Amino acid sequence: MIRNILCIGAGYVGGPTMALIADRCPDVRLTVVDINPDKIAQWNSARLPVFEPGLEEVVRRVRGRNLTFAPITPEAIAAADLIFICVNTPTKEYGEGAGMASDLQYWEQSTRTILAHAKPGTIVVEKSTVPVRTAEAVSRILNFERGGTHFQVLSNPEFLAEGTAVRDLEAPDRVLIGSERSEAGQAAARELGWVYEHWVPKERILYTSVWSSELSKLAANAFLAQRISSINSLSAVCERTDADITEISRAVGMDPRIGGRFLEAGIGFGGSCFRKDIQSLAYLCREAGLAEVAEYWLSVVRMNDYQVARFVKAILDSLFNTVADKQLAIFGFAFKPETNDTRDAPALQVCLRLLQEQARLAVTDPQALDNARRDLSGLPGNAGERVSYEPDPYRAASGAHALVLLTQWRQFKALDYERIYAGMHKPAFVFDGRNLLDHEELFRLGFNVVPIGKAPRLHF
Ligand code: NAD
Ligand code: UGA
Repeated sequence: MIRNILCIGAGYVGGPTMALIADRCPDVRLTVVDINPDKIAQWNSARLPVFEPGLEEVVRRVRGRNLTFAPITPEAIAAADLIFICVNTPTKEYGEGAGMASDLQYWEQSTRTILAHAKPGTIVVEKSTVPVRTAEAVSRILNFERGGTHFQVLSNPEFLAEGTAVRDLEAPDRVLIGSERSEAGQAAARELGWVYEHWVPKERILYTSVWSSELSKLAANAFLAQRISSINSLSAVCERTDADITEISRAVGMDPRIGGRFLEAGIGFGGSCFRKDIQSLAYLCREAGLAEVAEYWLSVVRMNDYQVARFVKAILDSLFNTVADKQLAIFGFAFKPETNDTRDAPALQVCLRLLQEQARLAVTDPQALDNARRDLSGLPGNAGERVSYEPDPYRAASGAHALVLLTQWRQFKALDYERIYAGMHKPAFVFDGRNLLDHEELFRLGFNVVPIGKAPRLHF
């Protein structure tokens, strides 16, 4: 019977997921731990480290009731009936597999901590996204020393998307639980299933082998990213042929076999997972001797990088081949709206390229300015001095030669563009990297508008 749950890793997944479980399972006590004491302090403060719509309300309900954020202690580990591992698994930056493989050092550390202090019988659940066969490796580490099987290791990947994390956790499309095929493995899977059954309909809880579960997670992210790269590749064709990518997305997406979601062209996908998970999948394929399969998936990442390069080139071409000393208002830095997360944000790549070209940038974002400041700190030369951070978009745009929209925050759609136009240098440009704004209206106001995958609207 599961009474005490521990979660190792208080990040974008661990914090919100445990808060939601605590909310839906008042009969279970949850403790979230992290090696970073600042993270724990933030989770215990009024300003959470993660911005997610609806999250503050959930945390306020359960914190101090049946959810605790605390430092790691042997006692907390020993008390757990079930331990989620939610640590980061970034792309490895050193040694064998650098730039492709997942860096599993945080994983291994967590496993060793569990081994040192957990009681036999504790169920260990991998929630982090990991390469196929990681659960098996963890199981070996945990069970080798003492001989016999003392710990069941389950795979339970997380499918939430940032910005909609609370909604996704409240009503998941599916919950995947991978286990060993043995009787003990299936019993452990049913115990975890019992936790989810507090609010998830039974038919949405899928039981598979650990390997299928691990590979399904990589596959789901690879498929989603592939759709974005597919539509982005066609946006390049549209720009050469006067076809319109929004019309293409609509026409293609109306086929129910294809579906309409994840067909929005733009400057490409960001976030901490799509690139990393495709690279991890490709590494796995290469290691398995499947070079062609690896190449197939890596082309999705290459197309994403190409899209950023194309967008920056369009800015340079339109601004008469130089942005040196020009003021550019950067609208949006987060990798998507409704989050403060800037990991692998396309905005960072666009800004770095524009700074290389000696532009001056005024960055505005409703939630991600602190992270933007951190990401753009320590740049070589005087690049850092050419960036300012401005919470007010009107002030960011004041005196700018161009507005460069990189995140589709709905707040940007509601601005008074007549007022913005009045305060800008002329000719004034809008580069809409997310096709968010009303281009006809902007053109009517006097802007030159350069979208993605459709003809620019220029006054000359
Ligand atoms: P994150 O970096 O926000 O959080 C990870 C946390 O783990 C950090 O706070 C870090 O300090 C902590 N940590 C690292 N090693 C530790 C250790 N040995 N002991 C205790 N704490 C430790 O990462 P995230 O975005 O929450 O992602 C976690 C995992 O979930 C990744 O594998 C990711 O691929 C996967 N995932 C992420 C998302 C998402 O939307 N961010 C969605 C689904 C799956
Ligand atoms: C993604 C998946 O959607 C989640 O299911 C998964 O759990 C998660 O990765 C993960 O494993 O980390 P997330 O990266 O948070 O979630 O956000 P998405 O909504 O998938 O957006 C990813 C990127 O793609 C964003 O930069 C977004 O702007 C971009 N995107 C999305 C497009 O460019 N076009 C689209 O049509 C959709």
